[in-house]
Amino acid sequence: MKYRNLGKTELTVSEIGYGAWGIGGGMWQGSEDKESLLALHTAIDLGVNFIDTALEYGRGHSEQLVGKLLKERSETIYVATKTPPKNGKWPAHPDDPASEVFPSEHIIQCAERSLRNLNIDRIDVLQLHVWHDNLLGQNDMSDAVLKLKEEEKIRFFGISVNDHQPHNAVRAVEEGFVDTVQVIYNIFDQSPEEDLLPACMKNNVGVIVRVPFDEGALTGKITPETTFPNRDWRNRYFRGDRKQQVWDRVQKLEKLPGDEAETLPELALRFCLSHPGISNVIPGMRTVKNVKANCAVSDGRFLSEELLQELKKHRWQRNFYE
Ligand SMILES: NC(=O)c1ccc[n+]([C@@H]2O[C@H](COP(=O)([O-])OP(=O)(O)OC[C@H]3O[C@@H](n4cnc5c(N)ncnc54)[C@H](OP(=O)(O)O)[C@@H]3O)[C@@H](O)[C@H]2O)c1
Repeated sequence: MKYRNLGKTELTVSEIGYGAWGIGGGMWQGSEDKESLLALHTAIDLGVNFIDTALEYGRGHSEQLVGKLLKERSETIYVATKTPPKNGKWPAHPDDPASEVFPSEHIIQCAERSLRNLNIDRIDVLQLHVWHDNLLGQNDMSDAVLKLKEEEKIRFFGISVNDHQPHNAVRAVEEGFVDTVQVIYNIFDQSPEEDLLPACMKNNVGVIVRVPFDEGALTGKITPETTFPNRDWRNRYFRGDRKQQVWDRVQKLEKLPGDEAETLPELALRFCLSHPGISNVIPGMRTVKNVKANCAVSDGRFLSEELLQELKKHRWQRNFYE
């Protein structure tokens, strides 16, 4: 496992972090706690030292599983979690006032609930779970963050950018509001390269990449015949002819990497890690098998400029979350 600086936090984080949404269950059906804990332990065995979770994931269950892991391990493990919007609206709407989305007392109460779920004294990175740059400067979000930092309940503060809207966090980065941003960046959505990643590099803001596999599309495992369990949110994400659309695109990608990647998941992760502005990537990986495959990708090899140029032709700008 290789490590990088998480921007101005100066935390040294593993290139592959652990995305802990799926293990919370709820929207992701088919999660087994026993398997999830094994996957978490394997990740730590293989050098992962960064876990991304959220109060919302399985209504605290993901955080509780992470808490269980932390109790059983002595290694340094950095935990990032997230505060949900008080008005319950995902994504943040440009016209919603900060007083409704992230009032100060809500941020503080949620951080305290996360601390209890995680069973720890301090969160390494507290992130707002939705974001729109219109929220900047509107209320006392900064006071809440300062208070939590002063009370040593959090170390660093970040935002998780609205899906496919990287431009919507550039002001927050440039105005010094955040230590980190979490953003969708993958072979299909390369838009963060336009303005967010350069802004983060200039301002030394850590970049946590989420959804490197486009919720599974970029693993090559979603075929037109794939089915998901009842009540699994991916029935909506991959609805209608979307699985066919994904399959058609992925077929073309699989032919590309030559000897630069043996599998599509490997190509997808190497793509993210090849950008110098990225601090780490947090794939969701509920099984030991996937953890092993993903951790093996962090070996210091980057994709060639030639292949990166070729991958630009495979950009696919759309929003399946809607
Ligand atoms: N708004 C936000 O802040 C937000 C939104 C989304 C995600 N996130 C964070 O980002 C993390 C990653 O996103 P995600 O989990 O939604 O999507 P993702 O990482 O793009 O894809 C996860 C899917 O890929 C599968 N997978 C993982 N490694 C694989 C491999 N080597 N081979 C084949 N399949 C593989 C997983 O299988 P299994 O199902 O078997 O694990 C899962 O179905 C989340 O866990 C969460 O921490 C944050």
